[in-house]
Amino acid sequence: MNSVMIGFGAALPKKCVLNSELPAELDTSDEWITRRTGIKQRYIASRSETTASLAVEAGKEAIHDAKISLNDIDLVIVATTTGDLTFPATATLVQRDLGIKQGAAFDVSAACSGFVYALDIVDSYIKCGRFKCALVIGAETFSRAVDWHDRSTCVLFGDGAGAVVVQAQNTDLGLQYCRIHSDGKFVDQLKTSGGISTTQSVGFAQMEGREVFRFAVEKFSESLQQLLEDNNLSIDDVDLIVPHQANSRILEKIAEDSGISKEKVVVTVNKHANTSAASIPLALHEVKHNLITKKNVVLLSMGAGFTWGSALIRFSGGNSSHKESGRL
Ligand code: ACO
Repeated sequence: MNSVMIGFGAALPKKCVLNSELPAELDTSDEWITRRTGIKQRYIASRSETTASLAVEAGKEAIHDAKISLNDIDLVIVATTTGDLTFPATATLVQRDLGIKQGAAFDVSAACSGFVYALDIVDSYIKCGRFKCALVIGAETFSRAVDWHDRSTCVLFGDGAGAVVVQAQNTDLGLQYCRIHSDGKFVDQLKTSGGISTTQSVGFAQMEGREVFRFAVEKFSESLQQLLEDNNLSIDDVDLIVPHQANSRILEKIAEDSGISKEKVVVTVNKHANTSAASIPLALHEVKHNLITKKNVVLLSMGAGFTWGSALIRFSGGNSSHKESGRL
């Protein structure tokens, strides 16, 4: 059995904030943010919008897109570090609000790598026959985890959710390969200043920007090379890379270091900023209409921990004989 993505959804808060609309007290500028990060705007959740509500909206669209019924879904995983409540898991709120009455629901916490971690878990379940159809969501309200007086972090992040329906299918399409990694010796380089067990508060995101940048470039490059080697592919066989969206300069480095053309690296950080675990599924949603024409699509993630991961997904490449076993 293979894990095949059959539906995509996305949700963004109603309010979009341009760089030029950021509070004057931050003493930042559109020019600085654009030059260092490529970010032009971000979406910021209002009081009535939460990680769960965004996840539900994205999930609904993915289920509709997949043309399946709620009864088909037997697993809901939400990758997030900004859940609505400390407990229960945001995934259970999503399960309730979508009206899914069967199966299991839980969250995955791996910061910006959460979506790739969740895919790896789903694939293992599908391969062993435990679950057949999963709703996998990356959702964040990261604007609530930053200190809005700290210009070195708050300008980088945004809110949103992306969702995919992953179905077990007897096909050679779908997820071919997934690897997840972490190295806890880097926890201090990117973390929050508190947590329930230490400060009884969530704290604010803090990071050593240059170190994070360096590590992200190194791990994206290393993961991509390993993925190519393990799958006997050359970089020319890759049709699209959908990386975690933290900084456009990191994405440019992926293209430069791997020799892939820039057009094959999906960039959405300009529109969404860094939405942590939501960034890859939001980017997948952006290109969902093109995926049918692609064959080898690579996901690359890197986040706090540090955590990192990669995945290779095979789509039909426009081959109609494959369409019967999955829409893509
Ligand atoms: N506006 C204006 N000036 C600023 C801002 C801002 N928003 N933020 C920092 N500065 C100033 C600093 O105060 C500093 O001023 P100084 O030279 O007078 O001391 C100057 O800009 C340079 O600061 P640096 O932090 O050295 O800038 P750098 O070139 O490293 O860029 C950045 C910072 C954009 C954060 C970069 O390090 C980066 O992209 N790192 C990757 C981290 C990342 O993307 N993290 C996201 C989360 S992790 C993840 O998703 C994988």
